[in-house]
Amino acid sequence: MAAPFNPPAADLPGKPFVEKWVPPPTSKLDIDWAKLRTIELSRLDSPDPKVVQQLVDTCREAIRVDGFIFLTDYGVSYDQLNRQFSIAQYLHRNMSEEDKERLHWNPDETGTFAGWKPRFGWRRDKGAPDGIEHFNYYQPQFESMDRVPTCMHPFWDEIVDFCNYLTYSVNKRLLKLLSKVLELDDDFLWDRVQSKQGPVGQGYFRQALYYPADDDLSKRAGGTRMNGHCDYGTTTMLFSVPISSLQIWGRDEKWRYVPYTPGALVINIGETLELVSGGHFRATRHRVVDPPEDQRNDERLSLVLFQASEGDLRMEPAYESPLLKREGCIDSQGAYREFKRLRDKGIPVPTNRQWREIQIADSHHPTDAAPNDTIVMINGSKHIQREYLGVKILLPA
Ligand SMILES: [Fe+2]
Repeated sequence: MAAPFNPPAADLPGKPFVEKWVPPPTSKLDIDWAKLRTIELSRLDSPDPKVVQQLVDTCREAIRVDGFIFLTDYGVSYDQLNRQFSIAQYLHRNMSEEDKERLHWNPDETGTFAGWKPRFGWRRDKGAPDGIEHFNYYQPQFESMDRVPTCMHPFWDEIVDFCNYLTYSVNKRLLKLLSKVLELDDDFLWDRVQSKQGPVGQGYFRQALYYPADDDLSKRAGGTRMNGHCDYGTTTMLFSVPISSLQIWGRDEKWRYVPYTPGALVINIGETLELVSGGHFRATRHRVVDPPEDQRNDERLSLVLFQASEGDLRMEPAYESPLLKREGCIDSQGAYREFKRLRDKGIPVPTNRQWREIQIADSHHPTDAAPNDTIVMINGSKHIQREYLGVKILLPA
């Protein structure tokens, strides 16, 4: 049985008082929500092989069809989670202006989102207001307190433990389940794909705050807060929140909001796993938009851990997987198909690090001009086409 999360106490000497985060109300509107399957992770530990097989079957279906799952019963209690949201709220209320300047990110040059993102676009230089602030903790933040906001120092033990638990317990168990779907050794994805350097590997932990969009921002961005995209790592672990802003692109080519499931993790499959699984796992497109009308004036606090693959690897399908041997690869979408096109021509595919860093360096807010973009129409709907390192990507606009 996996050990539950057991963080350091919140009331140790020297820790300032932290106001408890109060989740805002959920939307009362009648919405055509995305219907996602739920995986109770504790069932993976069941001594009954039938229970485990049932979990594997549900997971296979969920990641093939939706690419998104709700993960529940993974070892972090609702109160422990609330404490992490409270710490994130404290960051956004207390981070000093000096720290915001000193720890300002520079995605254009580094290809990482490390540090403080102010609410003015996705570049180093100040752009148009977008109302999104975050702090992003990468490996260097975990190696030197100088790179951590001063107001977070008293809670550093709790943040480190939380990230360690999410990576080395929750994600490790999740990758075991996904390895089982591929009918490979339980540790295949963990040993061969996942990056494992410190609490977040080559990924990062984000404490984000979305301020409500004013009329001007909504008009300029057409209601979109973050353009449609796929994540490039192994799994993205996003904590479900009451403010509905995340939408996913369904197989029926419609955007739908992901509903709130208290305490759950919303997991989505990154492109690395789509590539390794030969297209059996789906890196589903998603975006962030203005919430439903009755939540338009609420702030959205968000915690995410983006799990990354080992940067030096060039991904190819795990051909030894009995599932792939039996059913072949699925050539229907996205990164898998594009990487295959390169391989078929004898061109080396990008490494995982190249693939993620070039996309971060080129990220844009919906209101920014993106010189690398071409607009194409597919089945009557508008898509953005971009090309990085010889790989074309197509995103619903
Ligand atoms: Fe994403």
